Formats: sequence, structure tokens, C-alpha cells
Amino acid sequence: MEDKNLILAKELLEKNEVIAIPTETVYGLAGNAYNEIAVKKIFEIKKRPFYNPLIVHIASVERLDTVAESIPAIAYKLAEMFWPGPLTLILKKKSLIPHWVTGGKDSVAVRVPNHPLTLQLLNTLDFPLAAPSANPFGTISPTQADHVANYFKNKIPLILDGGTCKSGLESTIIGFENDQVILYRHGAISIEAIESITGKLISNTHQDATPIAPGMLSKHYAPNTNTIATSDLKKEMSLYSNRKIGVVAFKELDFEAKNCNVEVLSKNGLLEEAAKNFYAALHRLDKENLELIIIEQLPDYSLGKTINDRIQRAIKK
Ligand code: TXA
Ligand code: MG
Repeated sequence: MEDKNLILAKELLEKNEVIAIPTETVYGLAGNAYNEIAVKKIFEIKKRPFYNPLIVHIASVERLDTVAESIPAIAYKLAEMFWPGPLTLILKKKSLIPHWVTGGKDSVAVRVPNHPLTLQLLNTLDFPLAAPSANPFGTISPTQADHVANYFKNKIPLILDGGTCKSGLESTIIGFENDQVILYRHGAISIEAIESITGKLISNTHQDATPIAPGMLSKHYAPNTNTIATSDLKKEMSLYSNRKIGVVAFKELDFEAKNCNVEVLSKNGLLEEAAKNFYAALHRLDKENLELIIIEQLPDYSLGKTINDRIQRAIKK
């Protein structure tokens, strides 16, 4: 069954169709990175502004020099440490990489995703896959095949079902400038883990005017339902006791919550488990016709920092 779908996926991609693929972070909307028709379809389906570049997915670090050049030694060190995995590197692009993938920039974003189906697929293709997250621009990222189906069922010919994404948050995006290592997007690898290799990172994750990465736009990853964040869930919930609310709690509540829809991210308060469940919880609550979603802020370290970043962007008006 899996094999049949993989063969179909390869055929469709070779015909410059766009399909959804599973990764360990979120599902991607993938097409041949070298083909203008395929890449334009991605932008159209996603309703993404054309200046916002896509991540190019490759099968292994050995193929890195087919898409990028002047690669700093520290980039190789990070790649060797974290690939396959949720790390995206911004590097000087090879001229072979078309400008419609990079939004006209001379840099390219590249990563090796860590999902068995997608790695198998990439290994059989003779081109890399350009793939943004498989959701309309600005909405909640998909971590299950049915999330993608809800967004794009009739718009794409195949959703390669690889189960629930293991990490559940997008890749961490890192770039390099003048011997400095720069964080462009918090992601599924904590900054602590990156800094253990690179030393202190320079953070450039908040730019609204001309964002380098759309994930940097202050409103992004947002539910349709009105959403707020709090560090004191019990108090905040008490303000809305007669309203139809939904709650995203980090761990099991130590008080009784009546008549409201509670999503517990991790019963015992484990950050990795919370990360894996975060977007799915928002997808479920967003379907409940609630007046308000209240999200509890997480401890501000490791993956808690990434989830807090997504919470801030989800609540922006
Ligand atoms: O985990 C992920 O990264 C997922 C899976 C599918 O791989 N992909 C993903 O793609 O999150 P997307 O398009 O939703 O976010 C990619 C981010 C965007 O914020 C984009 O602007 C940034 O990468 N990006 C791409 N190329 C860039 C470049 N040359 N310079 C700076 N940022 C870049
Ligand atoms: Mg995205």
C-alpha cells in the first residue's frame, strides 16, 4: 500500500503536480523545486505571496552542494549533527536553484526531513522538493493527513499519509552572516541544542516590515476563533465562566473546569509531548464554534520557547 502510494507520488511529482508529503515537523505541500509550473502551483494553492521563499528538501547532506555553495564549516557541523531532522539552513544558492523558489533572493533554505516515507521518495527523485507547510498562508500548520485534507482535499491529487508528525512544530531556521550564526525562526530543535554547537546565537525572528521569513510575520499560525494567551489559566478562565470557551492547557489542570472544552498538551508537562500535540489541539478547538480560545503560556525555555513564539503569533489581531 505504502509502496503504491510512493510510486504514485513519484509519478505525480515528475509530471510537475503538487502533492502533500509527511515530515517529522508538519506536512509539506511539495513540488519539483527546479520546475516553474510546479512551484507556481504551490504558491497558488497556498495563497502565499510570491516573494516568500520556500524550503528546498533534499535526500541527504551529500546532496547539499548541488543546491548551495560557499557553505561555512559550521553549517556542515550543524547538518551532520541534526540531519535528517528539523533544522533548515539558509545558504548561498547555486545558480541552478530558480529565483521563483527563493523569492528572488540569492540564498536558499534547505533541509533533510526525517520521515521514512519522504526520505524514500526523495531518494528516488532526481530533483529536490520545494515544500512549504501544507496550509493556507497564515493558518494553523497541519500535523496529520486529515488536517491537510480539510484544507486542500479537492485541490491536490495526493496526500501521502505518514501518520502524525513526530515533532509537531516547524523546523528551526538558521543562517550565517560574517561568521555569526543567526536564528530566523524558533522551531523543533531548541536554541539550547543549537547553541551547544555554535555558541550564542543572534536572534532575528521579529521583523514585520520586510520579513525574511513569513514565519516571522507577527500574525501567523492563527486559528479563525478569537484567541488569547495567559500565564494564569485559572484566573483567565474565571473571567469567561458563562461563555463558550476552549482551553489549551500545558499540563493536567489542578482545578475543576466546568462546561468548557479543555485540551491538555501533556498530562505530565513534558515539552516534547506538548509540541507534538499543539497544532492538533488548535485544529480541534477551531472546529467547535467557540467564542474564545484561551492558551496557557509554556515555560520559556527549550521547546517551550518555540510554542510560546507560535502562541504570540496565533493571538495577534
Ligand atoms: O518544518 C518545516 O520547515 C516545514 C516542513 C514542510 O519542512 N516547512 C515549512 O515551510 O515550515 P514554510 O514555507 O511554512 O516556512 C519556511 C520558512 C518561511 O518562513 C520562509 O520565509 C523561510 O523558511 N525561508 C525560505 N527561504 C528563505 C531564505 N532564502 N531566506 C530566509 N528565509 C527563508
Ligand atoms: Mg508555514
